[in-house]
Amino acid sequence: MLDLFDSPEQNEDNLPLISEAELSDAEVLVELKKIKEELKDKVVVLGHHYQQDDVISFADITGDSLQLAREAAKLKDIPYIIFCGVHFMAETADMLTSSSQKVILPDLRAGCSMADMAKRIDIDRAWKFMTSSTKEKIIPITYINCAATLKAFVGDNEGSICTSSNAEKMIQWALDRGDKLLFFPDQHLGRNTCFKMGIELKDMVVYNPNMLNGGLTAEQIDLAKVILWYGFCSVHQGFTPEQITAIKKKDPAMTVIVHPECNFEVTQAADDNGSTSYIIDKIERAPAGSKFAVGTEINLVNRLAHQFPDKTIVSLSPYQCLCTTMYRVRPRWLLASFRAIKENNPINIINVPEDIARSSLKALDRMLAVK
Ligand code: 13P
Ligand code: SF4
Repeated sequence: MLDLFDSPEQNEDNLPLISEAELSDAEVLVELKKIKEELKDKVVVLGHHYQQDDVISFADITGDSLQLAREAAKLKDIPYIIFCGVHFMAETADMLTSSSQKVILPDLRAGCSMADMAKRIDIDRAWKFMTSSTKEKIIPITYINCAATLKAFVGDNEGSICTSSNAEKMIQWALDRGDKLLFFPDQHLGRNTCFKMGIELKDMVVYNPNMLNGGLTAEQIDLAKVILWYGFCSVHQGFTPEQITAIKKKDPAMTVIVHPECNFEVTQAADDNGSTSYIIDKIERAPAGSKFAVGTEINLVNRLAHQFPDKTIVSLSPYQCLCTTMYRVRPRWLLASFRAIKENNPINIINVPEDIARSSLKALDRMLAVK
């Protein structure tokens, strides 16, 4: 198995980790099987679709961001939830579970580069400028890929949260309550969804936090229907319209399906787009012999190719579009998390401060109430 990351200082508590000298990769999997069975009444493992196969094989529940948030909220009697995903997902799970339950992220460095593109201090500055630039009501929606402090911001400002599978519903929810939408951090999900809903590109502006006033005038804010934050997923920027042209030229029977974090030109040129679970569902339901070029993270694409040998499933990109932060969660860190629970000394606990959680929950509850 590809081993990109050696994480000697992997947990912040400096507790002993499981080195390769102690256990080989194969032995880690054997130990994991045993300990998971031993702790089955205490621990539930959640796994996002982008996790590597050896991690997914230990997940009790797999899903996209929305499904995993909903599932976490249902795990009332489980003291430990090990979240195999990235930091913002574990934070969301922590806020949706009780204070007696512990949410554990096997590698604390498993973050999301897109989530890091919107900082609370920049959002506060932008909000001040935007609300003083127009008399119209702006409703803020954050993509769930963000820190809890940003979820708290939308919670406190009549806004809400969306994932890639409910973005259209949540944007409609916002536009039913205000005149304008502020959407962060992913400009592409915002633009792709708003365009699909009939909002023209000329009515959308991009606020770049690295520029004075986002690079916009007060008049541009006042005239816009949608203000998009200058954020993006570097993994999904690896897909291009040229790749679609090339793959269709080689095999016109290929259906191109991409994640809506891809840019506008790519989603427009693709045959279809949707969240990770939407992509899985489409491929599952397709008849044998169907052919798909998929524009999303490589672990998911490879898994689908193995699961459906009667269909042709390839990555849209000739390069490996790997989410390196998702990939930080390795089976040996999962084993370290289990062992620490067994020793009654759990590590890598995600704990969102109470005041931030309270404000964020207002926004999360608004989202979960929308069916
Ligand atoms: P999904 O909600 O579609 O699983 O997406 C999460 C994500 O981070 C995609 O990059
Ligand atoms: Fe973040 Fe992109 Fe990785 Fe998703 S694929 S977790 S948006 S960096």
